[in-house]
Amino acid sequence: MKGAIFYYSGTGNSLWVARQAASALGETSVHAMPQWLLSRPPIDAESIGLVFPVYIWGVPAPVMRFIAALPDLHDRYFFACATNGGQVSNTLVQFEKLLSVRGLKLSAGVDIPMPSNYIPWGGPGPKQIQQQRFQAAQARITALAPGLKQHQTMPIEKGPLWQRIVFSAINRLSFNQVPKMDSKFWADDKCTNCGICARVCPAKNITIESGKPLWHHTCEQCFACLQWCPTEAIQYGKRTVRFERYHHPEVGLKDVLKN
Ligand SMILES: Cc1cc2nc3c(=O)[nH]c(=O)nc-3n(C[C@H](O)[C@H](O)[C@H](O)COP(=O)(O)O)c2cc1C
Repeated sequence: MKGAIFYYSGTGNSLWVARQAASALGETSVHAMPQWLLSRPPIDAESIGLVFPVYIWGVPAPVMRFIAALPDLHDRYFFACATNGGQVSNTLVQFEKLLSVRGLKLSAGVDIPMPSNYIPWGGPGPKQIQQQRFQAAQARITALAPGLKQHQTMPIEKGPLWQRIVFSAINRLSFNQVPKMDSKFWADDKCTNCGICARVCPAKNITIESGKPLWHHTCEQCFACLQWCPTEAIQYGKRTVRFERYHHPEVGLKDVLKN
């Protein structure tokens, strides 16, 4: 394989983007970052794509761990796609710095707006707008593919300056609190004790105790447990009872269980 794409994904947006990019580039394999971290096989691809969601206007912790674990790949071409709900802010600039600390150069950083899975702030929005975002993402990937294939240098995309100042400060203040934010999760009476929440959790943060999920404070806030619950029994605080659940329509539970 000439290329390899590594993704991190809670609700499938980043997995879908990884697959679309692999198909547009050709001769490119797709791998889940948490799976790679388990056995850390050698990476012989010339071109390495990294696809992940924006969390609290920054890079998610599991993606940071993946970058920290990479071997010396300074002679490879790196590009990144940050999927997000419309506010990429400083994420790709932060990501470029994380790579540079490892002696790696980010040659392209692409902002890909998708439906938001951050349910504490509401549902993913109308289906028509979701479709528009999928189409725009697909068009973007198709347009960028020739340049990525030729290992071109492209911009590291970012949000407006005010967002980068204000939201990066919020990111820094909240980052260390994320693992314990799971204290707001609970399961309502619709819980059937099926255990899917525990199986989809990439952080292995959930066990089933006395027929109900229990969160153990090593949460990554991906919301996979809540979004993939087949009976919509998992809630976060009081408001999520009212909001529509989301996962990418072309990504299934089986795909996410491979994460
Ligand atoms: C904890 C959390 C924080 C998020 N923060 C942001 C954010 O700061 N900016 C943004 O545009 N979207 C944000 N989102 C939305 C996701 O980045 C977006 O829906 C992404 O495409 C989800 O990718 P996935 O389906 O691969 O998990 C956040 C989502 C979660 C779960």
